[in-house]
Amino acid sequence: MPTVKFLGHSCFLVTNGDQSVLIDPFLTGNPKAACTAEDVNPVAILLSHAHGDHLGDAIAISERTGAQIVAVFELAMYCSGQGANVHPMGIGGQHSFDWGTVKFVQAFHSSSIQTDDGFLYGGMPAGIVLTIGGKTIYHAGDTGLFSDMQLIGRRHSPDLAILPIGDNFTMGIDDAVEATIMIQPKKVVPMHFGTFPPIEVDPNEFKQKMADQAVECHVLEPGQSLEV
Ligand code: NI
Ligand code: MN
Repeated sequence: MPTVKFLGHSCFLVTNGDQSVLIDPFLTGNPKAACTAEDVNPVAILLSHAHGDHLGDAIAISERTGAQIVAVFELAMYCSGQGANVHPMGIGGQHSFDWGTVKFVQAFHSSSIQTDDGFLYGGMPAGIVLTIGGKTIYHAGDTGLFSDMQLIGRRHSPDLAILPIGDNFTMGIDDAVEATIMIQPKKVVPMHFGTFPPIEVDPNEFKQKMADQAVECHVLEPGQSLEV
């Protein structure tokens, strides 16, 4: 059984046996980070998009551990140019690795890399469908609500959906409830809230609004784990 450990914001460490996969490793500079970038030793790093609160420490962790960064083409090429080991993909494409399978799905957001000379195009923002240890996890990345989440649910029957609830930059609580109803995962975990003032919301309000749904809602504190 894989477990997911919430490391704060949108960062999750998915562990299956003696291997782990890291998603959106924003640890340095994250006031809610449950560990440092030196504490993790993943075989791969999955990135939903290029914004700093998702790309985070990915390149440094890849350089230290050799972990392969799996990302949409333009972001993967940027990371490769910075010295990381990468595997580029596109929205709708799936690839099997020796530790699991990744498919990128759409997300309604933006994606860019902030540099001293301005913004670099980061490719399409994505949601991540990760199948590992016989379980399927849908990490929605940063996104607004869209009705094709129903299609993602129908195609992949996620055991766990990890959805942003912090509003302002992504879905808020009421849209995340609607998303969960469309996706129909077995379990749902909220993310992307409480890290900075504009995304301060009460995750227990999400849990309360999910109470009459047949989906288990788990609000994780940074550092807490859940069996998928
Ligand atoms: Ni973003
Ligand atoms: Mn974000």
